[in-house]
Amino acid sequence: MVRIKGIGAYAPKSELHNRDFERFLDTSDEWIFSRSGIKSRRISPPEQRTSDLAVEASKKALKRAGLSVDDVDMVIVATSSPDTLTPSTACITAAKLGMDKVPCFDISAACPGFLYALEIATGLLQTGKYRHILIVGVESGTKFIDWEDRSTAVLFGDGAGAAVLTVDEGPYGVLSTYLQGDGRLGELLKIEVGTAYPPGSWGVRMRGREVFRNAVVQMGEAAVKALQLANLKAEDLDWLVPHQANLRIIEATRQRLNLPREKVYVNIERYGNTSAASIPLALEEMLERGLLKEGDTVLAVSFGAGFTWASAVIRWG
Ligand code: UT7
Repeated sequence: MVRIKGIGAYAPKSELHNRDFERFLDTSDEWIFSRSGIKSRRISPPEQRTSDLAVEASKKALKRAGLSVDDVDMVIVATSSPDTLTPSTACITAAKLGMDKVPCFDISAACPGFLYALEIATGLLQTGKYRHILIVGVESGTKFIDWEDRSTAVLFGDGAGAAVLTVDEGPYGVLSTYLQGDGRLGELLKIEVGTAYPPGSWGVRMRGREVFRNAVVQMGEAAVKALQLANLKAEDLDWLVPHQANLRIIEATRQRLNLPREKVYVNIERYGNTSAASIPLALEEMLERGLLKEGDTVLAVSFGAGFTWASAVIRWG
């Protein structure tokens, strides 16, 4: 089975608390926390690139896996906030890690990007052509924020999570993956950077209420689909690890599966929405805190811009 041999995460040191926004935006700690569940988020300074976050997370993942950079046969980075449009953040990350002669590419699938990368890497490892693939979910999305737009500025944070995947005969690994998307609704959540926008008009734009409604439906659908594909029921789960975009969306997903609260991992209050980094950041934190144990059955589920949504069931170990 394809399994996660090592996982690592990194978040920038600098923290922005809800109260900090009160100084320059018409908002309040009370509004932000009650509507989203967020209390603070990490912000990468101008000189810290997306690839720098990816490098830190990757080093930890390799260490946990007991591998060196020479063991990595491919690097896939999921991000919506790349260092540059080209070269890819995967190539920059690989070079910074000291790798040469390694296939490397980015995927753009917004918040579920890590789960998209997981399915792509799983399929490639199953061909037998590669031994170890490094996948990274990383964002410095706050660099695209319009700090005058209170409806988006308060929601996002920066971070990175990486996993080294391998394939072996053991009982642990990826039991199912499910990917989905619907580009017709793309206008509802966008990072306006690219050929469609004039230079200088950057910004994250979101019609929050509509995104919220779609997220609740599709997170639930994705959760059910991955369980079906793994031939499991919700009661077989030890953990639900949902994308951390809004505590109320997380709660709706929990209710859809009828899971007790203690089986749902939540860290949104400290990181905000870190998009593609959200799920690996949570997994690493759970491991670090001794919550994630060998043999645990974990359902990860995510939803984001595109729209894209995705899920995976992993037997941890
Ligand atoms: O990760 C990818 C997927 N992203 C998501 O899933 C995010 C989905 N959406 C959400 O999480 C929520 O829609 C938000 C947290 C973004 C907003 O919560 P909401 O309960 O949907 O609020 P709303 O957008 O309907 O806004 C309610 C009111 C509005 O005022 P009026 O029109 O009722 O007078 C907003 O202008 O709250 C106002 N508002 C704010 N007030 C204080 C919007 N942002 C703020 C703010 N502080 N930061």
